[in-house]
Amino acid sequence: MSRFQGQNAIVTGAGSGIGRAIALRLAVEGAQVVVNDLNAEAAKCTVGSIKALGYTGSAAPGDVSDPEDMNAIFDQCEREFGTCHILVNNAGIAQQTPFKDLNVDDWDKMINVHLRGCFLGCRRALETMVDHRSGSIINIASQLGQIGGVELSHYAAAKAGIIGLTKSLAREVSQHGVRVNAVAPGPINTELVMKLSEDWRREKAGELPLGTFGEPEDVAATVAFLASDDARLYVGQTLGPNSGDVML
Ligand SMILES: NC(=O)c1ccc[n+]([C@@H]2O[C@H](COP(=O)([O-])OP(=O)(O)OC[C@H]3O[C@@H](n4cnc5c(N)ncnc54)[C@H](O)[C@@H]3O)[C@@H](O)[C@H]2O)c1
Repeated sequence: MSRFQGQNAIVTGAGSGIGRAIALRLAVEGAQVVVNDLNAEAAKCTVGSIKALGYTGSAAPGDVSDPEDMNAIFDQCEREFGTCHILVNNAGIAQQTPFKDLNVDDWDKMINVHLRGCFLGCRRALETMVDHRSGSIINIASQLGQIGGVELSHYAAAKAGIIGLTKSLAREVSQHGVRVNAVAPGPINTELVMKLSEDWRREKAGELPLGTFGEPEDVAATVAFLASDDARLYVGQTLGPNSGDVML
C-alpha cells in the first residue's frame, strides 16, 4: 500500500506507544514522516525503526506546548521534505489524581500538553494547508473526553477540549480543502495506560464489551484511514477504536 506516497507527515509524541505506531504506519504507506517527541532518544529510535524498514523519517525533538518548538518541528519538515500534508497531534501525558488533590500546576500541565499542543500544531499546519487547499489534521483525543473518568478530570477536560477544537476547526477550514478529525481511543496497551492504577485497569477491562484493551496498531489503522482519501467525507468526526466502551 502506498496511499501516502509523495506526502509529508508530522506525528507528535511518536517516540513510543500510539504515536510510534502511527509514524510507522504512515511511513510504510509511503509518507515521509517527521517524528516528534519530548524524549529525543525515543524519537530517534522510532526513526531508526522506520529506516530499518526501508522508509523515510526524521527526528524532531521538542515540546509540543512550546510555540517555538512547534514552529521548529514544522520548519524542519519544510526544510527536509517539504510542506506538511498530514499532521497527527498525538503527544500526551497521563496522571491519576482525585479532584480534591488536583493542583494548578497539574491542571495547567495537562491542558498545555494536550490542548495547547493541539492548538499550536493546528495553527502552524494551517498556515500552509489553507494556501495549498489540501491537508488532513488528526487530533488524538480519548474516550474519556466523551464519558469522563474518575480521578482523571483534568485529562478528560483536555480531551473534551480537543474534540471541541476539532469540530470548530473542521467547520472553519473545510471550505479551504483541509479536513480536521479526531480519534478517541479506548484503553490501549501503552506505557501511558500502565501509569494508571492496576485497579483502574482491571475495572476498565471488565466494562469493555470486547473485554480487552486495544493495541497501538489499532489506533494507527484508524488514523491512516482518516488521513487517506478513503475518508474524504469525514470532517469534524471523532472515531472511536475503543473496544466498545463508548457507542455513539
Ligand atoms: N494508551 C491509551 O489507553 C490511550 C487512550 C486514549 C487516548 N490516548 C492518547 O494517545 C496519545 C498517545 O498516548 P500513548 O498511550 O501512546 O502514551 P505514551 O506515553 O506511550 O506516548 C506518549 C508520548 O508523548 C510524548 N510526550 C509527552 N509530552 C510531550 C510533549 N510536551 N511534547 C512532545 N512529546 C511529548 C512522550 O515522551 C511519549 O513518547 C496521548 O495523547 C494519549 O492521551 C491514549
